[in-house]
Amino acid sequence: MITLGIETSCDETALALIETRQTEINFLENSFECRVINSLVHSQADLHSAYGGVYPSLAKREHGKNLVPLLDKLLNGLPSQNKVSNESWKNSLQSFQKEIASQNPELFESFRQAEFIKNIPQIDRIAVTEGPGLEPALWVGINFARMLANVWQIPLIPVNHMEGHVVGSLLESDKPMGTWQRLKPLEFPALALLISGGHTELVKIDQVKADWTKDRMGSKDSWRLEYKILGQTKDDAVGEAFDKVARLLDLPYPGGPHVSRLAKEAGDELLVSPIKLPRPMIHSGDLDFSFSGLKTAVLYTVRDNAGPDGKLTEDFKKALAGEFEAAVIETLNAKLRQALELTRARTIIIGGGVSANEALRQKFTGTAAEFGVPLYLPSRHISGDNALMIALAGALDQTQHAASPKACGTKRLGGETSER
Ligand code: KG4
Ligand code: ZN
Repeated sequence: MITLGIETSCDETALALIETRQTEINFLENSFECRVINSLVHSQADLHSAYGGVYPSLAKREHGKNLVPLLDKLLNGLPSQNKVSNESWKNSLQSFQKEIASQNPELFESFRQAEFIKNIPQIDRIAVTEGPGLEPALWVGINFARMLANVWQIPLIPVNHMEGHVVGSLLESDKPMGTWQRLKPLEFPALALLISGGHTELVKIDQVKADWTKDRMGSKDSWRLEYKILGQTKDDAVGEAFDKVARLLDLPYPGGPHVSRLAKEAGDELLVSPIKLPRPMIHSGDLDFSFSGLKTAVLYTVRDNAGPDGKLTEDFKKALAGEFEAAVIETLNAKLRQALELTRARTIIIGGGVSANEALRQKFTGTAAEFGVPLYLPSRHISGDNALMIALAGALDQTQHAASPKACGTKRLGGETSER
């Protein structure tokens, strides 16, 4: 089965094409196989960096401009079966014109002119991020997916972005594009720590519930994660804290990689911060997080230690970045340990953009070894937002949304869609 994934929840326009197959009946016995046909990410970070963060209406317009050309590139070389008749093409466009042409004019116009979309490719379903994320940005991807599903007459599967980050970490790292791979096996309960620019969540995954009978495609590879959110941030997300601290240190957006680069230099040069930052909520007794106080502590440190030109010395800046990163990692690690003790989890999954952080990866690797539990980190090229994880979640997870997306009982990850 071939799935097209679409991701536009923030400032990455991403599309991916994967093929999946079930070699045995039971996913828990690790029988689900996946092959990446193509995965493309177009980052808008440079455009947003002038604003110091993601500017929603700009993200929306850029997604609208980027999606059709990116699809053209993605499908290049993929065989097409049939052609959409002129009449049904006209009918499809007409049925969406009123709504989408006014909501996403760039998208509608480029879609209307895209001759290649009339060639129906060998794609069995479309998976699109439905949230959480920036509402205007999400809708561009959703509208694009709706039009494609309508023109090609294939099912459309809405995917939770954070669940995407969970399943993305089940892919083997560094498998070359095109080769078949088995997903890493899950043992339950599994513990997921999701750390991104919008969210910080500790999630206990109790099982993967398969419901073979409800599969609309007639294949046997649909399941959904059954989980409970154990803790989450009460204010800023961890990636957001990295981005805000980067701004305080005059570093570009997105700030995480820049802060961690300075922190590494501080370590290499043995620079020690004269200021000790707080480890927020480390002894709170629950599994919640809070990062806004830590960011404020950095703000005061910058204010109190800047020279007459209003700037910190380079060494102070590096040492402060190192201390901030250490405070974040220590806090996340303490909560991860508490959650491991509480749940006796048998698999640890880390997902979200902050999982690219090298020092954090090393710390968690040590913790997992100490607890004797396998640790699944996303491979570096998919630690940030991408459509590969969305395609995979959509290929795996169908029953969740078979009846109604909102009727699934459990609170889904990331809560409602959010602006940041
Ligand atoms: O998952 P993601 O790509 O987008 C969201 O869904 O939010 O996460 C982006 C976040 C940004 O805040 C970015 O600064 C952070 O991940 N990030 C990092 C690193 N690389 C990206 N944070 C710390 N260290 C990094 N190396
Ligand atoms: Zn993300």
